[in-house]
Amino acid sequence: MLAMEYRGPLRVRLEQKPMPVIQHPLDAIVRVTRSCICGSDLHLYNGEVPDTRVGMTFGHEFCGIVEEIGPEVQNLSVGDHVLVPFNIACGRCHFCKQGLFGNCHEANAQATAVGGIFGYSHTAGGYDGGQAEYVRVPYADVGPTVIPSWMDPDDAVLLTDVVPTGYQAAEMGGIQPGDTVVVFGAGPVGIMAARCAWFFGAGRVIVIDHLDYRLEFVRDYAPAEVYNFNEMDDPVVFLKKATDSLGADVCIDAVGGDASGNRLHAVFGKKLKLEAGSPIALHWAINSVKKGGVVSIVGVYGPTGNMVPIGNVVNKGITIRSNQASVKRLLPRLIEHVEAGRLNPKAIITHRAPLEDVSDLYHIFSSKLDGCIKPVLVPRH
Ligand SMILES: NC(=O)c1ccc[n+]([C@@H]2O[C@H](COP(=O)([O-])OP(=O)(O)OC[C@H]3O[C@@H](n4cnc5c(N)ncnc54)[C@H](O)[C@@H]3O)[C@@H](O)[C@H]2O)c1
Ligand SMILES: [Zn+2]
Ligand SMILES: [Zn+2]
Repeated sequence: MLAMEYRGPLRVRLEQKPMPVIQHPLDAIVRVTRSCICGSDLHLYNGEVPDTRVGMTFGHEFCGIVEEIGPEVQNLSVGDHVLVPFNIACGRCHFCKQGLFGNCHEANAQATAVGGIFGYSHTAGGYDGGQAEYVRVPYADVGPTVIPSWMDPDDAVLLTDVVPTGYQAAEMGGIQPGDTVVVFGAGPVGIMAARCAWFFGAGRVIVIDHLDYRLEFVRDYAPAEVYNFNEMDDPVVFLKKATDSLGADVCIDAVGGDASGNRLHAVFGKKLKLEAGSPIALHWAINSVKKGGVVSIVGVYGPTGNMVPIGNVVNKGITIRSNQASVKRLLPRLIEHVEAGRLNPKAIITHRAPLEDVSDLYHIFSSKLDGCIKPVLVPRH
């Protein structure tokens, strides 16, 4: 079969790989109908995630047709069109039982570090992902969810990650009616966080980025007030002034460790690798939230960052909440939002290409070219 393969930092290409096979009675094999490239894939692509092995197929956002099921799979049938959450979860461990599907203790040998994730390095279990014609799906009774007949598969594929992640970012913010919410990052995750903040009763939603085309999109989509941090002397001072000098009630970090906007971190983290990337968006979030406020982090970070103002967290009484999204827990209510027309996920898709174009699409998405917000790969079969 054809599959995307990692060849080292900034190098991915299409290769022939062996067809995946059932390895466990609870596995399924899924024929991929759509798969996305995610901001999280860029951390792998940039070579920033430990134990990302040459030969791995990325792709944790996909949907497809069930081609084969293991003898113990009960909830799926061959021919079902399913969306597959990015978390690989056993459904019965201590954490899964609490709905913490992103923290499953069984699906990854390194489970104390992170749960299992499709196509996300051997640190996240070493499972090949869905930027391929076919993919092996473990614990097939748990994650895969049949796409309702009324739902557009373009909406379905976005329910595997960015919609639930944006929603959970807003949920973890503990937004109270009338709250001012600042979202750092106008990528797919930040866009969804800004949209979902209104569901929790936000009174004002502000989005910060430096890419005008994304800011213009989220201004209308969320809707939100938008500001370009390159046009500010200091984003923290700007945000304080914009929020009665008190700060925002909730700040959401939807950027993670690849943040732009600070030369020191760019040199320390990106060039010299003396920290895992640049935690500047988190720094801004901590310093621009109100005393007693909440910082909700869904941006992905490597293990260490320097100069994160941890003292300010204590002295300001800030609550920090963070996690990988628990996609399965959130799916029922997100499907309802899509059905009711309150959420239109597919509006963020800007690029669609056959699997053969995977390296071009990585380049376009990673360099933020051609107005790219969310790219989708469609295998030809
Ligand atoms: N926790 C989870 O479950 C989960 C799931 C999916 C994605 N993520 C993470 O969420 C983050 C966003 O994902 P995405 O797909 O939207 O990525 P993306 O790369 O498309 O978007 C990131 C955006 O942040 C902007 N940005 C850069 N520096 C900034 C700064 N200092 N302040 C404000 N904005 C800045 C970029 O211009 C870009 O528009 C990534 O770190 C990704 O790994 C986490
Ligand atoms: Zn993703
Ligand atoms: Zn589990």
